[in-house]
Amino acid sequence: MKKLKQIKGLQLLSLLPRMLYNLPDTLAELAQSGEGIMKIGFDKSNFIFISEPEYIKHILKTNVQNYSRGKSAMELKPILGNGIFISGENDWKRQRQAVSTAFHAKYFDDFYPIIIDELEIFGAVLETAVKTGGHVNFTYQLKKLAARISYRTMFINNPAIDVEVILPALDKVYDYVSFYRHSVREATKLVFGKETKLGTPRDIWAAFDLLHRFSVQIFETAEQGKAEPMVFLQTLLDASRQGGCSKEEAIDQVKNIVFAGYDTVGETFGWLWYCLAKYPEHVQKVREEVFSMCNGSAPLHDQLGNLPELLMFIKEVMRIYPVVWTFHRLTGEDDVIDGYQLHKGDWIMISPYVIHRNPAYWPNPLVFDPNRFAGDMNPVPVRFDYLPFGQGPHTCLGNRLGMFEMQLVVAALIQKYDFISTDAFPGIKSDILLRQRKPLMMKVVKR
Ligand code: HEM
Repeated sequence: MKKLKQIKGLQLLSLLPRMLYNLPDTLAELAQSGEGIMKIGFDKSNFIFISEPEYIKHILKTNVQNYSRGKSAMELKPILGNGIFISGENDWKRQRQAVSTAFHAKYFDDFYPIIIDELEIFGAVLETAVKTGGHVNFTYQLKKLAARISYRTMFINNPAIDVEVILPALDKVYDYVSFYRHSVREATKLVFGKETKLGTPRDIWAAFDLLHRFSVQIFETAEQGKAEPMVFLQTLLDASRQGGCSKEEAIDQVKNIVFAGYDTVGETFGWLWYCLAKYPEHVQKVREEVFSMCNGSAPLHDQLGNLPELLMFIKEVMRIYPVVWTFHRLTGEDDVIDGYQLHKGDWIMISPYVIHRNPAYWPNPLVFDPNRFAGDMNPVPVRFDYLPFGQGPHTCLGNRLGMFEMQLVVAALIQKYDFISTDAFPGIKSDILLRQRKPLMMKVVKR
């Protein structure tokens, strides 16, 4: 057997402050000096960090049945219940099969006018900014846009929906499951030998409760016939009525989609907007391509497949800034990967951010170069060195919808506006998502 490198003792202690401040970049550096697999932690640690694409393929695809989500998402259990993100393999298979149909390409024709309508609402915010010459907090506005699109495409197509009540609650939940908070809880456990007496703070319970009530309201509005559900919600209603799942589980599924579909797209929008301001020469290429086909309007659904510059730009943003920057698996039985022994119970961490920044797989990884993706028109390519949406059976269910939203929104807006950021890099802040440390304040100029 090959010996597993371990980051421990003084080396680990010296890295800890940087890890707490900026875990993604600290791990990216570690990965470049390592063997693609290493143990991190004190002697009894079973935390394995894997950054070699072939090993990742083994875990996410070849021997996937041995690597479940396991405890990795358990801190989210109080809010996500028995939903698709948390459920054990048997429930997960049934749930995934049941809801997958709602993401079929044929429904995108129903989603299209919703996104176009949201673009108009968003356009009004931009027009005000153009007139006043003020800065727009794009971090917030784009999150709101993503949340509104998600609500209207997944649940109920109601343009009057107020998603703003839910955004601060989501922020709190994400913050609660961040590495920083997790480390503080673990450290308290180490020092006092038991769970912190503080338990789950009251404001977090309040956030859980708000998300719960929001989701119950979505489900019951449709259940009581007060609004017509979109296909995803209809699928859940049918399943709960026909005994495919309980009402509680259907509501849990609503929560899981609120959790999965709002901030992921919202934060990716944020990085897209940062890059729109930062790389005007690349934006110009995309703009010319879109304008020559769409002449100032949003692309039609079937035009999206013929806009390679746009697709390459978005893919490159998701390479450098993959918002789901890490995910985890639990080892079911002992296993061997390329001569390295893994043990039952080992907790595996995989980081798209780290892989996407490794020069072994991506030459000059910090250079923004959309041409890396030239010739591949698949919005979600299958490869294990590029994982913005994961890979294998747990691959993101909303991947094509997310890409569809981003393609439409970027294509429509760059034809009309320039986005100007006066700030330098906003910095990185990571919980389970990769966020901008400072809000993205930008000026908008009409073209
Ligand atoms: C840019 C936007 C998005 C990104 C970057 C993203 C990323 C990911 C990633 C990396 C995973 C896999 C996690 C793992 O393997 O443990 C995942 C899973 C998932 N995503 Fe997304 N996602 C996005 C948008 C969405 C949207 C819009 C929805 C739904 C409306 C969605 C629903 C889901 C669900 C349900 C899963 C769990 C799949 C399963 O376990 O079977 N995602 N996402």
